[in-house]
Amino acid sequence: MANEVNLNLDPRGFLEIMPQRAAAFEAASEAPLPTDYPVNKLMRAFHPDWQYARIQKIETHGPGAKSFTLVPDESKGTKELAYFSAGQYICVYLAIGASRLLRPYSIRSAPADAPAGKYILTIKRAQDGFASDYILDHWKEGGAVTLTGPEGNFTYEPLRDAKEIVGIAGGSGITPFFSLAAAIAGGAEDCRLTLLYGSRRAEDILLKDELDALARQTDKFKVIHVLSDDPAEGYESGFITADLIKKHTPSGDYSLFLCGPQEMYAYCDAQIAALALPPRRVRHELFGAPSARLTHPNLKDGAFTMKVITRNSEKEAPCAANESLLVALERAGTAVPSRCRSGECGFCHTKLLSGEVFIPSDFDKRRLADVAYNYIHPCVTFPLSDITIEVPGQKEPV
Ligand code: FES
Repeated sequence: MANEVNLNLDPRGFLEIMPQRAAAFEAASEAPLPTDYPVNKLMRAFHPDWQYARIQKIETHGPGAKSFTLVPDESKGTKELAYFSAGQYICVYLAIGASRLLRPYSIRSAPADAPAGKYILTIKRAQDGFASDYILDHWKEGGAVTLTGPEGNFTYEPLRDAKEIVGIAGGSGITPFFSLAAAIAGGAEDCRLTLLYGSRRAEDILLKDELDALARQTDKFKVIHVLSDDPAEGYESGFITADLIKKHTPSGDYSLFLCGPQEMYAYCDAQIAALALPPRRVRHELFGAPSARLTHPNLKDGAFTMKVITRNSEKEAPCAANESLLVALERAGTAVPSRCRSGECGFCHTKLLSGEVFIPSDFDKRRLADVAYNYIHPCVTFPLSDITIEVPGQKEPV
């Protein structure tokens, strides 16, 4: 009798509601269901695959940086630019020769500027900065650009972060903080920001006048310029040490946000460790792929062969031992979804079918299931042998 099923048991009321459902289906309209629901429209507005824009204005900041004001390109169907949170980035789509690439840039303008039809990107020339150099040399006023939707988690989150933010920025790492300061000044974010901004010399400070103007607008934002190479009156000098952070840190609880070139991180991380903050109070924007010379006992100079399988094709391409697989794929003209280029977002998620690879541990943000089933993030993966990978397709822009 133990195995006998009692058909009178109906703990979820299933048998009771079935007749009601059958009657509801019977009575339902035969008109076709809508193909587009409000929630779909909302999702596309916040997370468009592509946004098409025009360069309305270019501003030059010394020899090495420019700001680009981008507005919607209605002729290509973009009527408005997607809203974002201060600190997020968009990717710029570039076709350079046979290469197809996406490069992330933090949006420098305030989030409130997006519904008004404006993003500002400030881009600085970088050592080996293939995409940045191309943009600085080739983008002209009136030109068309293709962008992804906004992405990224380097944002102030009231449920997670302290209301006092201490920011540490270097070089073009100022851009997400600029957006946050503008959001604070405009009343869109309810937090305070004390920013330590490291530059080599006073004349190298990017957006100094604009930062000072924001600091005059609100007492919730303060900027301290720190010069490493050429001390000057009115500025802090040297590197951003634990003592300097303590000197300018408000008393009480605070979150520390860090964004800048990777060389800055190794130094600043040691200083931050001396502050003994809880891990949840320290946030990094990774800002690009591993760039330091990679060390691995089996890493050889030279190149390997990468067999690339997509849904419709197979091809072989060279991949250098010290370049990420994503760079090799882009050079081969294979369009691969990507965003952050630092192992975090998972957009480039790719199956490794054979071969040996190296993933620097600081950048390995894969889920355990991905590790178990041999999925990799090509943006932070380097070949140690010939390899075969199966890459997802990317919907190309028009
Ligand atoms: S592009 Fe974000 S994980 Fe590779």
